[in-house]
This record gives sequence, C-alpha cells and structure tokens, in this order.
Amino acid sequence: LLWLLLALAWLGTALGGEEEGGEVVAEEEEEEDGEVASDDLEEEDGVLVLHEHNFARALSEHRVLLVEFWVAGLVAPVALRVAGRLDTESIVRWLRRRAGPRATLLQDTATAATFVSSQDLVAVGFFKDLGGEAAQVFYEVATEMVDVAFGVAEAAELFQEYGLSADTVVLFKKVRGRRGGGGAILVLASPHQPLPLQFDEGRTDFPVEGLDAAELTRLLRVHSLELVMEFTNEVQPGLPLSLPGLWPPRLHSAPPPQTFDQIFGANIPHHMLLFLNKSSAAQLALQDGFRAAADAFRGEVLFVVVDVTGLGAAVLSFFGMTPADAPTLRLVKMENNRKYQMDQDDFSGAAIRVFIQAVLDGKVKPRLLSAEPPEDWDTRPVKVLVGKTFEQVAFDETKNVFIKFYAPWCSHCQAMAAAWEELGERYKDHEDIVIAEFDATANELENITIHGFPTLHYFPAGPGRKMVEYKSVRDVETFSKFLENGGMLPEEPPVVPETPENSTSREDPSPLGTAESRDEL
Ligand SMILES: *[C@@H]1O[C@H](CO)[C@@H](O)[C@H](O)[C@H]1NC(C)=O
Ligand SMILES: *[C@@H]1O[C@H](CO)[C@@H](O)[C@H](O)[C@H]1NC(C)=O
Ligand SMILES: *[C@@H]1O[C@H](CO)[C@@H](O)[C@H](O)[C@H]1NC(C)=O
Repeated sequence: LLWLLLALAWLGTALGGEEEGGEVVAEEEEEEDGEVASDDLEEEDGVLVLHEHNFARALSEHRVLLVEFWVAGLVAPVALRVAGRLDTESIVRWLRRRAGPRATLLQDTATAATFVSSQDLVAVGFFKDLGGEAAQVFYEVATEMVDVAFGVAEAAELFQEYGLSADTVVLFKKVRGRRGGGGAILVLASPHQPLPLQFDEGRTDFPVEGLDAAELTRLLRVHSLELVMEFTNEVQPGLPLSLPGLWPPRLHSAPPPQTFDQIFGANIPHHMLLFLNKSSAAQLALQDGFRAAADAFRGEVLFVVVDVTGLGAAVLSFFGMTPADAPTLRLVKMENNRKYQMDQDDFSGAAIRVFIQAVLDGKVKPRLLSAEPPEDWDTRPVKVLVGKTFEQVAFDETKNVFIKFYAPWCSHCQAMAAAWEELGERYKDHEDIVIAEFDATANELENITIHGFPTLHYFPAGPGRKMVEYKSVRDVETFSKFLENGGMLPEEPPVVPETPENSTSREDPSPLGTAESRDEL
C-alpha cells in the first residue's frame, strides 16, 4: 500500500502497462456542492479521482495505490520544497522497489553473474539465512536505496563462487577507463562533458556482523561514489545566488539531477574541491595528485573536481572566485560551511594529504571572504562594514552598534533601505550609537552565520561580546524605540541575548523572519 504526498498525475503514463495489476495514481478532489455521494471510481487523464466516498473501494480494488493528497492552492510549493528534485524516473524506481521485490533472489552462479553486470552499481547480500536479522537489515536498506540494484544470495555455491564464508554485503561497481596513478589522462572530446563513471575498484565487501541499516546505508552511499566526483550541475545564470560561503549552493531553480544529488546526498562531512580549467591540458594533469590523495580519506572527505570553464563556473561566486583563480584547491567543512585554503596551492598527492589532515586536526584557520572597505566607510551616516572591519566596530565596548546584514538582491532589504538611512541620519551625531550595514554576500564572519535577509543584530556597549537579534517591525520609529530602550522594545518581553558563538548553530533564524518578511536561504 503506497501513499505518496505528491502530485503526480502523469505517473500513470510513466508506468503504463508495465506492471501487471499495476499502480494507480489517484487524486482526491473536493466534491462539487450538491453532488450525490457515490463510490464510483472516475478517472481524469488516467488518474483516479478519489474522495471520501470511493476511497475504500479504490483501496479494495487495487493492489497498490499511489495517492496524492492535496489542498487546493497549497500543494505545489509545499511539494516542491519537500521533494526537491523528484523526477518521474526516481518516483517510478521508488514505487517499483515498494510494489515489487526489494531484492532479486540469485539462485545460481549464472543468474548471479548476469545480475551483477546488469547495472553500474549492484549490491548483493550473501546470507546464510535469508530469514535472519542481518538479511532484514539489508532488505530495509534496499527499500530506501532505490538507485542501486539489490540482490540476495543464500546458496553455498554462490558463497564459494564469490570467495565468501560469512554473511557479507558486496557492492559491485563497473570499472571503466581506469586511470592508473601517473598514467594517461582521459581527454574527452568535449571538455565540458562529465566524465563517465569510472570506479577505481570493482568490488567492495562489507561484513555485516553488527551493522545496522543506517551504517550499511552510509557505507553503500560512500562506496557508490567515485573516488573523485565532478560537479556537473547546471545553475541558471542571472538568478540571484545566495550567500557566497554556502556549499551546497542554495540553487534558486530546480536544476537537473546530475552529480549534485550524489555529492550532497552522501552526507560526507568534508568536501575537497579542485577548481580547474578543463580546456587546459596542464591543469587537467593536476587531477592525478588529487586522485592519489583521495583514497586515504574515503567517507571523511569527498573529492570533487569543478571545471571553471564548464558547468562548475556558476558555483565560483560561492567561493568569491573567478575562473582566473583556477587551478586552486578549497576544503569545505559541511557542518558550518567553513572553507580552508592552502597558503600556497600545492597539487601533489602528498601535500594535499598533509593539508587535509591538518584541517581535520583543527590546525588550519578557515579562510573568510571579505570585500575591501570603501574609502568613506566610516564617514557616512550608515557605516559600511566588511569582514575585515567588522570585529573592531561591532565589538567596540564604548559603542552600541546596530547592524543590518543584507544581500544586494534581496527585496525585503531594499524595502527597508530608506528607513535604515534615515536611522543613520538620526543618530549620526550620537557618540555612542553606530548604525551600520554589512553585505553578507561578499563577507563572512568567523562566528556569525546569517540565515535570512535582512538580519538585524544589535551589539550593546560594554564587555561580554553580546549580540541581540532585532525581530520587530522595520521602521524608523520602532528602530529608535529599540535603541533608546537599550536594545529591547518596551512593550515586549526582553529578547534573550545570545553570544555570536552560539548563533552559528541556530537552525531557525527567527519566528518573525518568515518568508513574507525576509528572504530565507
Ligand atoms: C582555459 O584554458 C584554455 C586553454 O589553455 C584557454 O584558452 C582559456 O582562456 C582558459 N580559460 C580561462 C577562463 O582561464
Ligand atoms: C570565534 O569563536 C571562537 C571559539 O569560541 C573564539 O576562539 C574566537 O576568538 C571567535 N572569533 C571571533 C572573531 O569572535
Ligand atoms: C551556547 O550553546 C551551548 C549549547 O547549546 C549552551 O550549553 C551554552 O550555554 C550556550 N552559551 C551561551 C553563552 O548562551
């Protein structure tokens, strides 16, 4: 029985006729007023239209139902947000895995060999007892990991054929066009085409003793990635890109599901990025050292090549880079989006290994973006802060500093710009009050991460490096009241001060900062 919360009227055709007694996609629709309640099953474009009177009948008549539950006017945005880039193919795969067998039973060596070579990635569980606990864990993983083919084997003949004696999950990978260490580089007809899948090893064994489903999933995910991935996601040019430091980039469009999902779906805690110009043979050759360093960090650091002249160009802004900066290396810590850079790029495998180990050991400081301060940054009524000048101004213990963190493209920021200027004018002669702004798309701070635009923070005078987020109405009078009242609004309960150190881990930026009042990231 399948209930999927997504509008997929066209899935009916996608599955068309292929599955016996097949899945039926249904929609629930509000009844027209005055319509007689009946349990008739009616179709619209091959999709059953369900409502409270015929739902039970549909359930009893079909082995499997895929049902979209929807609320008029709401479903599309919600579904898009939740589901991201679900496409027909992945939904069909998801459905097949649930409606059909989760893993193919391999009876003998011939069927096993055929199955293993049927796809790029095949996971086979060898279990002495297919009814046992270990096999159940494997089935559980198979249900969710629909992009990999799953098989199970119990026969002694198969254990022997694959050289196994205990329960084991084996991931079989197609090895193609393998490049030896220091060997020839595969030069493609078009430099902008992604490389074909090319695993470095054909098979990885996981003894299942003590593995739970989460850990087995993680291992299979990690080992289904190529040792070096390439970032090949199309980003629509001209669309506002969000914060520069964010990796994964928050794409404002639904791009085609290329390697983006694999790279970010594996949940590997660090990404090591090699930016290069794939049109340059000399730069292409740098992949050798990069690849040589990768194996030692498998599962901990994912190695990704970004072609700055191809599909990778669009992500350069997230790193404050231009194509001319290639070749270069960056390491990103995924948990906080901090980026690390060698003092001087060195592309040898040994140097890359040493650098990564130093970052993992906490011995390297993250590299933060900062624009140059404009000449008149501190003579304007609204001071213009950048990464480099932030610390000295915001944490000046003799001043109360009120800062707007904004993005140039954000409409809510533009809407409050005049009010902020006016506030600056109003307080320009107050010795102890500073009104400032900070372009958070060109500057990063070590301990403050901005989650939505605009974000307003107040840094009161005095010791303790306090920071208070302003979450009220964005007009001059309310801003003034807040300032005059020492960083809180009289009629509201005091805002709990937070230290900058703690703000980086906040998930939910502000109860007031809804989509209506600010651009969330
Ligand atoms: C990339 O390399 C090619 C070949 O060397 C060169 O013509 C091109 O200008 C380079 N592109 C960039 C952005 O550096
Ligand atoms: C950021 O936080 C760390 C850890 O609390 C601290 O050592 C460091 O001085 C802080 N940096 C700034 C610029 O506030
Ligand atoms: C910062 O966060 C940690 C963990 O959430 C908490 O234990 C600590 O008290 C917080 N510190 C401050 C100064 O709020």
